[in-house]
Amino acid sequence: MLENLEKIKVRFQEELNAVNSTEELEKIRVSFLGKKGLVTDELKNLRNLDAEAKKTAGMQVNLLKEEIEEVIVTYQKQLEEKEYQKQIESTERFDFSIPSSVEVGTLHPITIVQKQIEDIFKTMGFIIEDGLEIQTEYNNFEAVNIPKNHPARDMQDTYYLENGQLLKTHTSAAQNTIMRKYGAPKPGEPLKVLFPGRCFRNENIDASHENTFFQLEGMMIGDDISISNLIYFMKVLLTEVFQRDVKVRLRPGFFPFVEPGFELDINCLICGGDGCPTCKQSGWLELLPCGMIHPNVLRMGGIDPDKYTGFAFGLGLTRLAMMKYNIKDIRLFNSGNLKQLKQFTK
Ligand code: DAH
Repeated sequence: MLENLEKIKVRFQEELNAVNSTEELEKIRVSFLGKKGLVTDELKNLRNLDAEAKKTAGMQVNLLKEEIEEVIVTYQKQLEEKEYQKQIESTERFDFSIPSSVEVGTLHPITIVQKQIEDIFKTMGFIIEDGLEIQTEYNNFEAVNIPKNHPARDMQDTYYLENGQLLKTHTSAAQNTIMRKYGAPKPGEPLKVLFPGRCFRNENIDASHENTFFQLEGMMIGDDISISNLIYFMKVLLTEVFQRDVKVRLRPGFFPFVEPGFELDINCLICGGDGCPTCKQSGWLELLPCGMIHPNVLRMGGIDPDKYTGFAFGLGLTRLAMMKYNIKDIRLFNSGNLKQLKQFTK
C-alpha cells in the first residue's frame, strides 16, 4: 500500500507539471480526490487491512490527501491570477492616438452666437453667470419691480409649476440673485455681469413665436454709470456680432425694472430696411430692450440707489441668431433638424 501511495504522489506531481488551466487542474483533482479518484480508492482499500496496518496506512493516506489538497489550492490561486492577467492583456484598449472616424457634431446656432457674445463681453471685463430655469415668483417678478397684479404680468404668459414656482419668463429673473451674490461694487470697479439663459412663455407657436427661447441679459452697476455707457456697450456688441456697422435707433420703451427704459432697434438685416414679414414691414427690428436699472430693483438687490446706478439689457438671443443666419422660421431651433442646424458653423 505504501508503495502505491508513493506512485500516486509521483504521478500527481507529473500530471500537475503539465497543467495549464484551472479546468485541467480540476480534472486532476477529480482523478485523485474525487469519488472514484486514486486517493479515494486507497482510502476504501483500508478496510481490507487489519487494525494495526489500518492505523499506519490510514495516517499515510490521509497525509497524502491533505498534501494534494493543499497543493491544488495553491496552484488554483496561481492559475487564476495568471488567467486574470491574460484576460486583462487581451482586453481591447482604447487607443487615443488613432484618428477618429466618428462624425463630429456642430454647435447649435444659438450656442455659437451666445459664445461669441460671451467672448466679446469677457474681454470687456464681464463675468458670465448662469441663471436658474426654475425660479420663484419673487425673483421673476417682484424683485424686478413687477408687483402682484401689475399689468406687466399679463404680458408674459407664465408656466407656473405645482410647487408655486415657475419657469423663468425672462433672464431678468436672475438680477436680484446676482446683485446679492456680488454686493455693492467698490469705487472704480463696477459690477459687470452677463447672464444668458433659456426662457419660457406660454405662447402659441408659429414661424416667429416659440414657447422656449433664449435671452442674454447684461448688467453693469457702479458709482458712475450712465446712458452713454449703455449705448457704447450695445454698439460694440452689435458691431462684433454682425461684423459690420449696424444701423440702430433708440426709442423710449417701458419696462418696470428700468427707468428710463429704451427699445434699441436694428435695421432689419433680412430685407435691408425695405420691409418684410420678419420686421412686419417696418424695416426695423426690436432687438435690444434696455435701460437704467430702476432704483427699486437696486434696493431689493441690496444695493443703495443713492450711491450707485447701473444699466441692464435683455437681448433676444434667439432673434439675434435668426438675424445673423437669416433663419426665417423660429421653429427650426428646437426642431432637432440636424441636417439644417449643422449648416451654421460660425
Ligand atoms: N426682461 C425683458 C423681457 O423679457 C427684457 C429686458 C428689457 C431686460 C429691458 C432688461 C431691460 O434688462 O433693461 O421682455
